[in-house]
Amino acid sequence: VILSQDDLKKIAAYKAVEYVESGMVLGLGTGSTAKHAVARIGELIRQGKLKNIIGIPTSTITHEQAVSLGIPLSDLDSHPVIDLAIDGADEVDPYLNLVKGRGGSLLREKMVEGACKKFVCIVDESKLVNYLGGSGLAMPVEVIRFCWKFTAGRLQNLFEESGCVAKLRTSGEKGEPYVTDNGNYIVDLYFKKSIGDLRVASDAILNIAGVVEHGMFLDMATTVIVAGELGLTVKSK
Ligand code: A5P
Repeated sequence: VILSQDDLKKIAAYKAVEYVESGMVLGLGTGSTAKHAVARIGELIRQGKLKNIIGIPTSTITHEQAVSLGIPLSDLDSHPVIDLAIDGADEVDPYLNLVKGRGGSLLREKMVEGACKKFVCIVDESKLVNYLGGSGLAMPVEVIRFCWKFTAGRLQNLFEESGCVAKLRTSGEKGEPYVTDNGNYIVDLYFKKSIGDLRVASDAILNIAGVVEHGMFLDMATTVIVAGELGLTVKSK
C-alpha cells in the first residue's frame, strides 16, 4: 500500500488522540493535519468513548469544524489551563522547536499552546528540518496593518546576513493581503542561510514595534509524533 501525505497526517493525528482522556480541556489545532485530530475527537465523543471534553480552538476555522462535530467549546479566559493541545507544524527541528503559521493561525496557536501542560505536535516526515527556516519555505510573522511595509523592511534588515526576503502574504486571485483571524497581516520571511540562535532571533523580532507574534515555537512541543513511510516515531522532551 502506498500511503499519501494525507494518510500520514491522519495516522499521526489518530496516534495523538490516544493521549486524550475524558474530562480534559483540549487545545484544538489548525491545519490539514490537526483537522484529522479534531475529527477523531468528535467521533470518539459521538461514540461515547470520550466524555466531558472541552475544546479550545486555535482559529475560527477549527471553531467551525468543532461546532459541526458537536465538541463543547470554551476559551482561554474561562479555561486558562489546558491539559493537552494537538496541532500540526510546518517545520520541526531536532530539538522539537517548530515553525508554525503557514495556515495563518500562529497567534492564537501560540496563546493556546503556551497555556498547555502538554503539547503534542503531529507531522508527516516531510516537516522535519535540520534547522528552522531550513525548508526554504516561509517563516510567518503576524504584523499590524499600519505601515506594514515599514515593519516588513525592518524584519528583512534584521536578517540581512541570512539573505532574508520579507513578503506580504496575499490570498485570492487578486492578490489581496491575507488577513488573520485577528485582523492583522502576515509577513513571510524567507532565508538563504540559518538565522543562528533562535532565542536571539525571536527576541529581536518581537522587539520590533508593529510585530504581533512570529511562527517560531521554541521549546513548546512536549511530544512530536512523526508519521513516515516506515511507521510512526514519537519524540518526547
Ligand atoms: C496553522 O497556522 C499552522 O500553524 C498549522 O498548524 C501548520 O501550518 C501545519 O499545517 P498543516 O498540517 O496543514 O501542514
